[in-house]
Amino acid sequence: MSDVQMGRELLGETAIRDKVAQLGRQISADYRGQELLVVGVLKGAVIFAADLVRQITVPVYLDFIAVSSYGKATRTSGVVRILKDLEESIAGVHVLLVEDIADTGLTLHYLRENLLARGPRSLKLCALLDKPDCRRVEVPLDYVGFQIPDQFVVGYGLDFDGRFRNLPAVHLLSREAEKK
Ligand code: IMP
Repeated sequence: MSDVQMGRELLGETAIRDKVAQLGRQISADYRGQELLVVGVLKGAVIFAADLVRQITVPVYLDFIAVSSYGKATRTSGVVRILKDLEESIAGVHVLLVEDIADTGLTLHYLRENLLARGPRSLKLCALLDKPDCRRVEVPLDYVGFQIPDQFVVGYGLDFDGRFRNLPAVHLLSREAEKK
């Protein structure tokens, strides 16, 4: 048995749903009269992106990009690698990059530079969660759901070692071993 369990709830289902709806309204207003390509970062942002696109009222296209994850470590190695790329060119397209969480900022920084080099018409960044105290590189976040403290969280797409993505709320991670 793993010594890691889901801990205290940090963000409940209702708070998340309300925030996603609010972000959807803001994004719909900002892109009024335009089409938008939402790019979700696999796997963590898949649930957030799926909920968010249903709150956006302008025409939306949806694609995903996958980058290497930390594996069992809860701290970034700083190394980012594209494991699955976008299906089509984004040249001349309004792109909204949707990530589950901005921690060190390294993933979003890398993806931003990588996508900007492809010549999109515009590129904005959206993260459900933001841990500003952990930032190692500055990234301009255009849309943020919640700022949270420097603690590892799981649920609503976020995992620890592949687990807990299916939790409907965001929880702190609890390590039984640390309590002893
Ligand atoms: P960054 O590159 O350090 O900003 O980290 C971004 C990625 O790290 C996210 O997409 C998550 O996959 C992972 N990550 C960072 N913090 C957490 C956390 O608290 N829980 C789960 N995953 C996290």
